[in-house]
Amino acid sequence: MVSISLFGRSLLTLLDFSPEEIQYLLKLANKVKTEAHKGKIKQRFKGKTLAMLFEKRSTRTRCSFETAFGEEGGHPVFLSTADIQLGGKESLEDTARVLGRMFDAIQFRGFKQETAQILAKYSGVPVYNGLTDLYHPTQALADLLTLEENFGTVKGKVLCYVGDGRNNVARSLMIICAKLGTHFTVITPPELNPDDELRGKITSLAKESGAVIKVTPDIGEVKGADALYTDVWISMGEEEKKEERLRLLSPYQVNQKMMDMTNKKESIFLHCLPAVKGEEVTADVIDGKQSKAWDQAENRKHTIKAVMLATLIK
Ligand code: CP
Ligand code: NVA
Repeated sequence: MVSISLFGRSLLTLLDFSPEEIQYLLKLANKVKTEAHKGKIKQRFKGKTLAMLFEKRSTRTRCSFETAFGEEGGHPVFLSTADIQLGGKESLEDTARVLGRMFDAIQFRGFKQETAQILAKYSGVPVYNGLTDLYHPTQALADLLTLEENFGTVKGKVLCYVGDGRNNVARSLMIICAKLGTHFTVITPPELNPDDELRGKITSLAKESGAVIKVTPDIGEVKGADALYTDVWISMGEEEKKEERLRLLSPYQVNQKMMDMTNKKESIFLHCLPAVKGEEVTADVIDGKQSKAWDQAENRKHTIKAVMLATLIK
């Protein structure tokens, strides 16, 4: 077996990680979760520092990074755009250079993927993408861990994403499923289809893993799904699109009728959260028996801790 080392690596998009590396992170996350539930917290980040840069709001991602790093003895520092220069008075490259001298790693949540790339290039330390307009890789890791916990494996399972097919969460799910051999169906109006460039990359990845990746406007395609997944209809930074999105997406609400259309009693509901109950999902579904959204939220912390352990500890 090939030994895997992710030491020193950034996580900007899961496109940069091999299926074996992603599986390694999921396995480590599972281990870390078991340890945490047994109260076996160690001090593996002792003496280390993490800069947490936020251009957009966050509950789960911020709390996951901050608590996962802090409980293992590390020192996380929260910095919003109100606190530091981030391409403001000084160039982004210069900020990155300085952060790289003071921190062992950087978490970035914001708008442009390019910002995360520049931070990684000029800081010289691992950079973790905590969500950009294009990708949400740490979310996808938690989602697949949740799927694995419920079904024992992710390979060959059917994950159906219903809603805004071009957003960061849909895109990252498409990548991870194509890499791990999980069948993935995006059910979205054609106006919100994922872009052709990404779909081109996905096609060759899926060929290797055996995943069947579909994009369709047809809600009937939820039939046979092991999990239905949705996300907000209006992502952060797209508030001016509200009217258009409500018009396009209202037929795509995940409600009990849609859950029943899977024709599988054991099918589960997933949501990255935050949720707008009454828009993309009804309260009875997200608060109901089939919902694993709360396990999924907890899994953000374990997967994020796994990513930091793998990249920061030799
Ligand atoms: N799912 C997620 O990223 O949540 P936050 O926006 O609260 O971090
Ligand atoms: N697509 C959402 C995800 C939030 C975690 C957004 O970008 O706002």
